[in-house]
Amino acid sequence: MGTVIVDGIEVAIGDDEHLNGIEVARRAGIEIPHYCWHAGLSVVASCRMCLVESGTRNPDTGEITVVPKLVPACQTPAKDNTVFVTNSDRVKHSRAFVEEALLMDHPIDCPICDKAGECHLQDYFFEHGQAQRRADIRPFTSKKRDVGPTVTLFADRCVMCTRCVRFTREITGTSELMVIDRGSHDEIDVFPGHPLDNRMSGNVVDLCPVGALGDKDFLYEQRVWFMEKHDGVCTGCSTGCSISVEENQDTVYRLKPRENPRINQWWMCDEGRYGYHHVHSTKRLVGAVRRDASGATAIEWEQVFSELPARLQGAGPLAAVISPHLTVEEAYLLATYIRQIDPAARLVVGPVPVEGTDETFPNGFTIRAEKCPNRRGVEEIVKHFGCESEVYEAVQSDVAAGLIGGVWVSGGYKTDTFDAAAAQALSSGKLLVVQDLFASPVTEVADYQLPGPAFPEREGSYVNCADRLQSVPWAIRSPAGVRTDGSVLWRLLGRAGLYRSRTVLDEIAATIPYFALAAGPVSPQGVALSETTPATTTT
Ligand code: SF4
Ligand code: SF4
Ligand code: FES
Repeated sequence: MGTVIVDGIEVAIGDDEHLNGIEVARRAGIEIPHYCWHAGLSVVASCRMCLVESGTRNPDTGEITVVPKLVPACQTPAKDNTVFVTNSDRVKHSRAFVEEALLMDHPIDCPICDKAGECHLQDYFFEHGQAQRRADIRPFTSKKRDVGPTVTLFADRCVMCTRCVRFTREITGTSELMVIDRGSHDEIDVFPGHPLDNRMSGNVVDLCPVGALGDKDFLYEQRVWFMEKHDGVCTGCSTGCSISVEENQDTVYRLKPRENPRINQWWMCDEGRYGYHHVHSTKRLVGAVRRDASGATAIEWEQVFSELPARLQGAGPLAAVISPHLTVEEAYLLATYIRQIDPAARLVVGPVPVEGTDETFPNGFTIRAEKCPNRRGVEEIVKHFGCESEVYEAVQSDVAAGLIGGVWVSGGYKTDTFDAAAAQALSSGKLLVVQDLFASPVTEVADYQLPGPAFPEREGSYVNCADRLQSVPWAIRSPAGVRTDGSVLWRLLGRAGLYRSRTVLDEIAATIPYFALAAGPVSPQGVALSETTPATTTT
């Protein structure tokens, strides 16, 4: 254990900790401004925004020796008895000069820049810049340049921090970005004929501390201060990256990675980042439909709640196909409901979409081939109800063979999962109930077609491929006419009050040993269910 002194505040550091001045100052509640340093990238100490005074305290005499020059806090290790001064006049002047120099070359086009509201140049200028400008502003023209399918570069907004360059070298290993014309005319660019086109390219936009790199998907769609940010889990694959869902008035505008050292660090892949547009598709199912001999009729949810239990009871042996897109809580409620009607009902994990093979990048980040967020969670729920080895295909053939009379199929898939053959098999029983996002051959033949929620509309927990459970709130309300699987099942089970996933998770944690560690508060980093002690605590 060592002690570092930051602006007179003593900060304890562990023997195995390797912190720099910026990180140790944060522990003391002090933010040192910085552009080029990022915890996930190598240190270049080029922007000079983090310059501080530094020295060493003699542990015996208490005397402090200060290095005569300012040092970059990002590159200065915090060791026992290291002293940092972050608020002296010398430090303040240095920051103001750095800001002044940057603004000589940077257009003040904040009114049109996508980064306005979260730009470090703006924020640092107000906090650390000169009170008055000492140079004339020359007219700028924003040089917009295409650098790849997802990202646009506004070259004159760049502060040459090289975070984006280091990302493509160190994290993806693709090295598309580089610095050209080094010297007073240096710029970021791509190698000719090699656009920024890799499966994690969108991360450079998050890394850029200013508005130099713009996300084509988000460009000019929304000002950041209009949006609300909600914790989420990416449902694009079984890595289950921690994300933020950013929305305004129930419209999702972008997904961003949420830092989680246990899963995705600071990153997410493009597939997940841009994989939300189906949420607002005009093709979403938005009303309950009952189908009988006289055809399909739109019905109110109240009718569903009043007639469905009797129809299920009269349908004979039951089965539930539990989608790996459902949350743990929804899967548990569906299994509980179907078993309440038929104690011997078959429960199976729904189709698990697999595309290609896992892709692992040099830093270890992996995009999984398994394109669903909660196979593990649903498997464990099904196992708890004694149906461990059941497979979805068996239910299909058993319905066709007349061994199962009624089936509840849950969905939530973005892409076509159920084909005409599945529809033919599943509809040959007495009753087929399907709750899904989009019409499919199976919804077309369902006796009850129930509109289902998209992932930002669900609250609850997902267990990723490494047995880490994350719990997230809903981010947007479903379109009118849609109810979440959780709220529908809560109602069908006759439980009092509104559906709250936490109440159900408490029940699950108390009932199913695999989920026992989710009994307490679930940290934003999630809980490792397969370990004997919780890996994280509430932060
Ligand atoms: S484009 Fe952005 S991330 Fe890249 S060097 Fe310039 S300021 Fe840094
Ligand atoms: S790796 Fe998987 S979970 Fe992570 S962002 Fe990509 S699709 Fe989503
Ligand atoms: S953050 Fe330290 S020099 Fe750039």
